[in-house]
Amino acid sequence: MNKPKILVVGSMNMDLFLQQANRIGNHGESVICGDYGYATGGKGSNQALAAARLGGDVVAVGRLGKDANGDRLMESLNSAGVDTRYIVRDEEAQTGLAVMLVDQSGKYVSYVSIGANYRVCLEDVRKALEAEAFDMIVMQLEIPLETVYQTVELAREKNIPVFLDAGPAMHIPLDRLKGLYILSPNEAETEALTGINVDTAEGALKAAKWLYEQAEPRYVILKLGSRGALLYDGKSAQFIECFKVDAVDSTAAGDTFGACLAVQLCKGRPIEEAIVTAHAAAGICVSRVGAQVSIPTEKEVEDFLAEHCGGNR
Ligand code: RIB
Repeated sequence: MNKPKILVVGSMNMDLFLQQANRIGNHGESVICGDYGYATGGKGSNQALAAARLGGDVVAVGRLGKDANGDRLMESLNSAGVDTRYIVRDEEAQTGLAVMLVDQSGKYVSYVSIGANYRVCLEDVRKALEAEAFDMIVMQLEIPLETVYQTVELAREKNIPVFLDAGPAMHIPLDRLKGLYILSPNEAETEALTGINVDTAEGALKAAKWLYEQAEPRYVILKLGSRGALLYDGKSAQFIECFKVDAVDSTAAGDTFGACLAVQLCKGRPIEEAIVTAHAAAGICVSRVGAQVSIPTEKEVEDFLAEHCGGNR
């Protein structure tokens, strides 16, 4: 079968990650951390690279500064086989930079200097969409919201399903997103969008229903961290457990989950099975440090599934 053709529109950042922070500090405090490192990241570029490593034929749209960090991101995406021809090297802005504070449980808080990402516009997207045909568009919210809305509208005209990974957490109007194929926020993003606490199964279900009514996607998929995922299709809801792994850094795990899911769905996998495969990809990612360096290949995911579920998936 041909690889699914996926357009990823989104942010591209260099990540400076500091590991093993005891806690997130207050103003005026210095919090001692463990080792640090740099890794290519950004929600859009993580998803582009993940979709390529996991079996997609991927075109990326985004903006990078004309600087050394931009060069490193280009190298990373090119080496994964992502088509980078539509990425703009912007002379007016720096490449985005994210400072990721990772605590001892592997959870993180990030501070993002958004730079060139905030100059991604519909024209950038249109160039790719006019040149090629796509099975799916994958997007996040780390670029201008207007570009997200306009891309959803253009995709609707062209009948291309849109997978919106709703990060980072923000409260936004959902009416211009009607007709998405998938709306997939994590816990913090769900709470920001809905105002509903998702710590309990009841809360998560209530939030999924609320999102479904507001954005009318085909599916709402909540990423609930170690509790797995909640799939809601407007009629029924299913909690789909994830794999238990030793988590060291959750950076890019949600991005990997979404990218893997998009590839699997484009390949025609039933949604429940696609979610299990996406859990495997995200499980491998959280067991490694850094953003793109931690994203597994298709073969690694197959091996993981063979080890954890045998032939039963
Ligand atoms: O989703 C993880 C990403 O969010 C990081 O790579 C960082 O760049 C931030 O954008």
